[in-house]
Amino acid sequence: LSERTLIAVKPDGVQRRLVGQIIQRFEKRGFKLVGLKMLKAPEELLSQHYHDLSKKPFYPSLLRYMGSGPLVVMVWEGYNVVSTSRKMVGDTNPAEAPPGSIRGDFSIHISRNVVHASDSLDGAQREIQLWFNCKELTDWDCHD
Ligand code: CMP
Repeated sequence: LSERTLIAVKPDGVQRRLVGQIIQRFEKRGFKLVGLKMLKAPEELLSQHYHDLSKKPFYPSLLRYMGSGPLVVMVWEGYNVVSTSRKMVGDTNPAEAPPGSIRGDFSIHISRNVVHASDSLDGAQREIQLWFNCKELTDWDCHD
């Protein structure tokens, strides 16, 4: 059964020209790109995206960081994509992320960890609805 997940290249990843390499990893693994947009996220959207973290001490700096430049936000589809993409991205803290993972290869500090990946099927559904409307998502099975 096919799943969808939300992957975002954060401002540090965009600024460091890592977008192409990150997309390539998901394509090579075998997932399908069904949505993609580049935007500087408004604070309101970021606060909805990170509503679970609003009480954390790092929340204000997290919102500043995520709003500091454009993001590349994507929806990827395929078998088991939520958990497989979490493994491809690596642990939240890059110091714990294994070499070979995106964070393990491209980052050193938790506050600049290059990418976001939805952490569960429910989280993915919530985040996809937040960042995309359905017309922005390609239905690969649609032939009209
Ligand atoms: P992500 O898992 O994509 O979404 C939540 C983000 O909060 C996480 O990536 C980090 O970028 C950030 N974050 C989590 N913990 C910390 C922390 N202790 N200090 C700074 N940023 C953090």
